[in-house]
Amino acid sequence: MQVALITFEQLIDQARMTQIKSAKSTLLNASGITIFYNDELSKLTDLDKQQLSFFKKEIEQEKDVITLQELGLYNYYLPLKKESANPEALEKLRMKGASLLASLNSSKSSEVCITNLTGEKELSLALAEGMALANYQFLKYFKDKKKRQNSLTTIHIADKYVTAKDAEALQHVVEATLVARTLINEPVSYLSAVQFSKEMQKVGKESGFSVKVLGKKEIEAKKMGGLLAVNAGSIDPPTFTIMEYKPEKARNKKPIVLVGKGVVFDTGGLSLKPTPNSMDEMKCDMSGGAAVVGAMMAVAKNQLPVHVIGLVPATDNRPGMNAVCPQDVITISDGTTVEVLNTDAEGRLILADALVWAQQYKPEVCIDLATLTGAAVRAIGTYASAVMGTAERNVMDQLAESGMHVWERTVQFPLWKDYGDEMKSDIADLKNLGGAYAGQISAAKFLEHFTDYPWIHIDIAGPAYSNGASGYRTKGGSGVGVRMLYDFIHKNYC
Ligand code: BES
Ligand code: ZN
Ligand code: ZN
Repeated sequence: MQVALITFEQLIDQARMTQIKSAKSTLLNASGITIFYNDELSKLTDLDKQQLSFFKKEIEQEKDVITLQELGLYNYYLPLKKESANPEALEKLRMKGASLLASLNSSKSSEVCITNLTGEKELSLALAEGMALANYQFLKYFKDKKKRQNSLTTIHIADKYVTAKDAEALQHVVEATLVARTLINEPVSYLSAVQFSKEMQKVGKESGFSVKVLGKKEIEAKKMGGLLAVNAGSIDPPTFTIMEYKPEKARNKKPIVLVGKGVVFDTGGLSLKPTPNSMDEMKCDMSGGAAVVGAMMAVAKNQLPVHVIGLVPATDNRPGMNAVCPQDVITISDGTTVEVLNTDAEGRLILADALVWAQQYKPEVCIDLATLTGAAVRAIGTYASAVMGTAERNVMDQLAESGMHVWERTVQFPLWKDYGDEMKSDIADLKNLGGAYAGQISAAKFLEHFTDYPWIHIDIAGPAYSNGASGYRTKGGSGVGVRMLYDFIHKNYC
């Protein structure tokens, strides 16, 4: 089959559509967005009397954007209520950034300058973040991609508290999120497990972390029976990718290990998913893996002084060849036997091998991300991820706080023993299918069996992918997890 080849330059180009730069002062030859507190109109020194009284009226009417147009340039003013940079206020600004971005693109602006008169640098950074994330497009497969390209290329931030380094750090985190989106948006016709591992190698080379890929022979030699079982119905080989970022000045003795589910397409295997319906968006089933690559990229590009390891087991899940049958018994790399009762509960099988692999690092904490269960989506919808874990309470809280801060919200569920009892098999150590209820928890109990370290599981099945855009979350892959992991590592381990 002929496939369109994407070069790494294209992968990064798609992510680097928007440049975020700090500026010494407001640029007059570009469209502008000014953030100010609504009781500090006196700071708007460029307005004349008439404009000021117009602004006062607009503010009284609680307008959230005041627009001035001069010589073909748009100037948007955002009056904000005085509130500290809390998560809700930051999210409002990201969303506002997305809607202003749409206006700027429709007026064919190429540059915009954000002026911040509030003295809170987080506000201008959040606005820029929302704009840059919203400006993402996945155009690779269009013939006329040039014509379809958004006009906006550069966001300048004129904020005396935002340094060039702040702007660059934000740019890296946004790029990493968008690389994750592109990997998710790639269909399996391009992104096989082997191709996925090649992309991870490219990202590692560009960002400064090492990448080692185990191919099928090595996976067999390591007896990764979960990964091999899921791969048995496929003609494409599996991969197991090990990424490592280990700066000399690392502050942590024990590494942070990130594990991501890399099912490049989930048909359900012999327990085939129905279509149209639950199979239609299953190219997204490697979103956990994409989040891990993205987080590695953001950490490495910003040279955080933290030792981080990323593991991504990858394969497609298909019903061909010697596909695993319901009731087959397989053996995970630690010797645990599993009775496979539903081949569509495949994520936990490949993650089991990865979690066993993680044991050798004696991690400070191991965090896995996976589009693991429909149950997580039924429980909390698409607005949040389901989180469970054995890490200490304060670590779980720190992750939840980071999730809230970047608006990748999480809801914690319990890991009581009862749910684990559901995973006992009559003929093997475990089965891969729990009871009818709370499937996100029984899945997590299954994973817990393979951990001997502080561990957090994030079921991102809800927010990973969307067939409609919502603000700066463009249609398709969301890149959820990248910004949360980056914030968590940055705040707590640097
Ligand atoms: N990849 C799916 C879970 C999923 C559902 C991801 C919706 C994204 C959106 C997973 O492999 C799966 O099929 N899980 C089954 C498990 C069940 C058979 C125990 C499910 O949740 O239905
Ligand atoms: Zn499945
Ligand atoms: Zn799956």
